[in-house]
Amino acid sequence: MTNIILCGGSGTRLWPISRTLMPKQFVKFFDDKSLFQLTVRRNSKICDNQFIVSNAEQYFLALDQLEELNKNNNRYLLEPIGRNTAPAIALACFSLDAEEIVLVTPSDHLIKDEKEYSKVLKKAQNLANENNLVTFGIKPTFAETGFGYIETISLEKEDVKAFHEKPDFDTATKYLKSGNYYWNSGMFMFKAGVFLEELKKYSPKIYESSKKSIENISNSELIRIKYEDMINIPEDSIDYAVMEKSDKVKVVSSDISWSDVGSFDSLYEELPKDEKNNTINENLINIDSSNNLIYTQDRKVAIIDIEDLIIIDTEDALLISKKGSSQKVKKVVKRLNEES
Ligand code: GDD
Ligand code: MG
Repeated sequence: MTNIILCGGSGTRLWPISRTLMPKQFVKFFDDKSLFQLTVRRNSKICDNQFIVSNAEQYFLALDQLEELNKNNNRYLLEPIGRNTAPAIALACFSLDAEEIVLVTPSDHLIKDEKEYSKVLKKAQNLANENNLVTFGIKPTFAETGFGYIETISLEKEDVKAFHEKPDFDTATKYLKSGNYYWNSGMFMFKAGVFLEELKKYSPKIYESSKKSIENISNSELIRIKYEDMINIPEDSIDYAVMEKSDKVKVVSSDISWSDVGSFDSLYEELPKDEKNNTINENLINIDSSNNLIYTQDRKVAIIDIEDLIIIDTEDALLISKKGSSQKVKKVVKRLNEES
């Protein structure tokens, strides 16, 4: 089994820590390890090969972090520009044997129950062997609009009625109440050839242009897609391009203690905390404050009598937010992009 690791995203919801040149998956939040490193470590226990698909700009970051783990035998596919996940996965699949089972994973998620994870992957492998596109379903706890939703007849069954990518808030609330929906974890398992067949059926332009981009170079260990080829590939995510349309989608219930670490609020939940529920940082001086996420790199930060705040201090930018409001960081990034 090959693990395709997607790491082309820039994770703007964790600004100012996560930037274009230092995206969230490479930031060392946990025990001096990045989410990317934890992903590689977790999946290399189960998969024989790792195939890293990233933006060309992130190649050396990835290489350095893999070296720290002593994992040097990886294949790489470098994209000159991002075209979202459908092309990234298609390009990797074109350079694998059609019968090869692939586990597609993001590089920026946290999975804490690895024992359960390996059980879940075994179930998925059986379904992928039977030519299905397997998704991993997480029981939803709130009406998140940034996720895909997997509609089932009953949560106990592997059959999928429909896949709905990123519904609006009212629709997500309806899904949550109905009790028959999972969140899509953003991981997938299938035979490379089965995915490509479905892509050809439902998004033929992505299929054809990806195929053309990888012709003659698909065998190398380090594949660099040319800019003039990549620019011709339409931009789309696997969720819209294939998962919403295919009738081969199955779901495996995944109680794996999963988080997409998609905001500072969810990062706070995952980080170790002191007895007053503040995140732990050696450069923090805390006088009578509680329930705060304080992130500082080299500078000292002192807090007095504050509660429920998110303070992110970096060399050239400072973010202060109320806990519970950190989804609005994307508005900050939008404003910054408008100004530049
Ligand atoms: N190589 C490459 N190229 N990787 C990419 C690209 C690209 O152009 N675009 C995104 N990625 C990587 C990101 O770094 C991330 O690891 C993964 O692909 C998924 O992309 P996101 O942009 O984070 O997707 P999302 O979070 O909006 O939605 C997906 O994940 C949700 C769960 O976190 C969907 O699959 C949803 O259905 C799902 O609920
Ligand atoms: Mg994501």
